[in-house]
Amino acid sequence: MISEQTWWKEGIVYQIYPRSYKDTTGSGVGDLQGIIEKLDYIASLGVTIIWLNPVYDSPNDDNGYDIRDYRKIMTEFGTMEDFNLLLTEMKARGLRLVMDLVVNHCSDEHQWFQESRKSRDNPYRDYFHWWPAEKGIPPKRWSYFDVDENAWKYDAQTDAYYLHYFAVKQPDLKWENPEVRREIYDMMHFWFQKGVDGFRMDVIPFISKDISYPELDAKEPHEFIAFYANGPKIHEYLNELNREVISKYDAFTVGEGPGISINQALDFVHEDRKEMDMFFHFDLMSLDRQPGEVFMMRKAPWKLSEFKKIFNDWDSAFAKAGWGSLFLANHDFPRAVSRWGNDSAAYWKNSATLLQTFLLTMRGTPYFYQGDEIGMSNVRFTDIDDYKDINTINRYENIKKNGGDLIAFMESEKHAARENARTPMHWDASQHGGFTTGEPWIRLNPNYASGVNVASQEVEEYSILHYFRKITTVRKSNLALVYGDYECLHPEHEEVYAYTRTLGGECFLILLNFSDVTVTYSLPSHIQYNRKTKIISNDLILDDQTYKEFMLGAWQAVVYKLEN
Ligand code: NOJ
Repeated sequence: MISEQTWWKEGIVYQIYPRSYKDTTGSGVGDLQGIIEKLDYIASLGVTIIWLNPVYDSPNDDNGYDIRDYRKIMTEFGTMEDFNLLLTEMKARGLRLVMDLVVNHCSDEHQWFQESRKSRDNPYRDYFHWWPAEKGIPPKRWSYFDVDENAWKYDAQTDAYYLHYFAVKQPDLKWENPEVRREIYDMMHFWFQKGVDGFRMDVIPFISKDISYPELDAKEPHEFIAFYANGPKIHEYLNELNREVISKYDAFTVGEGPGISINQALDFVHEDRKEMDMFFHFDLMSLDRQPGEVFMMRKAPWKLSEFKKIFNDWDSAFAKAGWGSLFLANHDFPRAVSRWGNDSAAYWKNSATLLQTFLLTMRGTPYFYQGDEIGMSNVRFTDIDDYKDINTINRYENIKKNGGDLIAFMESEKHAARENARTPMHWDASQHGGFTTGEPWIRLNPNYASGVNVASQEVEEYSILHYFRKITTVRKSNLALVYGDYECLHPEHEEVYAYTRTLGGECFLILLNFSDVTVTYSLPSHIQYNRKTKIISNDLILDDQTYKEFMLGAWQAVVYKLEN
């Protein structure tokens, strides 16, 4: 069956973290002009949609996820004129733009909060969640970025606590208030009228909470999330947002979906429900973490059978309705090649290109993060002073305060920290990787000087970059790779991920060796064909002369077309 065709299902998304993309002023911080300068490069990759991390005015406590003014561009990034030019230049190249929508919370420097905290009868008071101190200490709510992990902050001015699921400077907006929702919808119209094509919706399940604030009995702090996100009004709000805003444009939404389980998936994205178009689930992102932990790495390595199960389960969730999103990395997680591949010299190139092949041959909309196209890898900072991220810094402080194991924490951060993704983009081998002529806001990964940069890979014949361009073309010229049915051939196999994608009479076979050794792989008996044509491979084919047996080198990826 083919799901209804749309541009955003057929699209390939390229995520840009503007702070780290390209600086044109020498400030050490990337800017919008830097993105404009690189648009020809971006278009040359074959991607069709850009998702921009927040570019709005912000004091940057959480790098733009703390918005002070939703209708103004962050000064470090440029002006509204730069933004308008960016959009015009993108459209001229056929690129679509998806903005970040951060509306669970704003900055405490936003005018709404500045007013709200002034007095209990201020007209903006009910824009936020306040707990009057005379009711006693509010029931425990866990916070992501608070040094004491406490989501309630006492504010003496009105003798009350306000809620902040994230940093103390990110107060949660009160969606129960229709005025708040109206302000948000107006703001979304403002951006749509400029011509943007959609929104990635930050922590969207958190907008509805149980505001009676029952005491929670979860043992693990992180289990709390299940109790205080996805609240009773989540579907009502998403439906309203869709009706009031999204339905009026040729646009799509992708929600960040922490806490959305597979059983709930279609309630959010079934076409008939008119809520969101797709969302990012977190099952893969938790695979290498300790159970119930968001940030700490687990001891045992992840297994390929576990990895496949996640993709198999989620593919079947959307096989008949809805649509999925596919991602291996973003600005909140380590680099894809370091996490799901092997970034050591011998396997780096093959594993980076294997992961590209994987995302571009699966069903769902693929999202790449800047630098994936050249195989950027984890920086693995060892010194706390190298970290700029509030998440790492405040958790470090928390552990220090409580006499915890800082060595174990720093070791885990080498692999888990968000900074691994946030170091600047590598444009060439010159100082600071051609990112800035000034002092970069954060240290670069020194491997920019040894081949992990765009300029070197442009001239290298078989580079990760050139492969990326080829495999995006393969995706875009074969609808079966977008819409075709997916069948995983050996879910339990621990080295090879093999699957078919079939649409009408067309069938593609994808073989991916997720291991450091050569493997001989045999197709199951029900896969029959008369002729196979190699469409693309990231390495020389070792041996595929026999009908059912394939010899795959370490981290080899091959796509065949099978014909009868
Ligand atoms: C999720 C975003 O992706 C992350 O970067 C941010 O820190 C939190 N939401 C809070 O907005």
